Amino acid sequence: MSNDLKIILAVDTPDFETASAWIKATQGSIAAYKLGLEFFATFGYEGVARLRELSDAELFLDLKLHDIPNTVAGAVKQVVNLAPKFLTVHASGGHEMIKAAVDNAPDVDITAVTILTSLSQDDLGAIGFSGTPLESAVKLALLAKAAGARAIVCSPLEIAAIREAIGSEISIITPGVRPADERGGDDQRRVMTPELAIAAGASYLVIGRPITRFWADGAQAMAERAQALAASVN
Ligand code: C5P
Repeated sequence: MSNDLKIILAVDTPDFETASAWIKATQGSIAAYKLGLEFFATFGYEGVARLRELSDAELFLDLKLHDIPNTVAGAVKQVVNLAPKFLTVHASGGHEMIKAAVDNAPDVDITAVTILTSLSQDDLGAIGFSGTPLESAVKLALLAKAAGARAIVCSPLEIAAIREAIGSEISIITPGVRPADERGGDDQRRVMTPELAIAAGASYLVIGRPITRFWADGAQAMAERAQALAASVN
C-alpha cells in the first residue's frame, strides 16, 4: 500500500460487476477497498477472493466481529487467508475477544470499532453504557489498544480525543467524511471535511458516496473524483 494514500473506498453495492468496475476505475487513488457484511453475506469468501485479485490495493474487511473469544478466533483463522490489511471487530466485545483476533492474525491490523454513530446517548444508556458517547469511545479505544488492536474506527468528532488518548502508533479510521463541495442529500449528519479529519489526527478516511455517485457519469468521472480527493489529503 502506498504510504500516502489515505482514502478507504466503501464498496457499498450488492452488484458484483459494479464493485469490480469501481475498483478498476479508482485504483491508484485508494489505499484499501472496504467490503462489509452485505457483500460477504451475498458473495461469501470466494467473492471477496475474486475481487481481491483485481487490484494491488489493500482489503478492509468490515465484518465487525463480536462473539466469544473462541468463536472470533475461529472466524479470524478463516478470513486471514484473504490477507486483509484491516479486519474489524467491535471493541465492546472486550479485551479477551480482541486479543483472540489479534493472536490469530499477526499480519492483519485488527481494527476496533468503538461506538456506532447510529447510537444516541439514550441508546447507549439503554444498553448499559454510562457517560457520553465520546467518553465511551475513548474508553473503548484504550481497551482495544491494550488488547493489541492496531487501528480504531470512530466518528470524525471523536478523532482528536482518541488520538490524544492512544498516541501516534495506532491508526485512526473515520467514516462520516464529506468534501466541502459535496451537496447534502444523504444520511450522514455529523460530518467533517477530509482535510479537517486528517488535521484532527485521522490516518485513513472511509468514503463512499462522495466518490461512488460519480459512477453515474462514467468510469472516468469516478476516477477523477477519487484522484482529486486523494490529492486533497496529501
Ligand atoms: O457513502 P458514505 O461515505 O456515507 O459511506 C460511509 C461508509 O462508512 C459506509 O460503508 C458506512 O456503512 C460506513 N460507516 C459509517 N458510519 C459509521 C460506521 C460505518 O458511515 N459510524
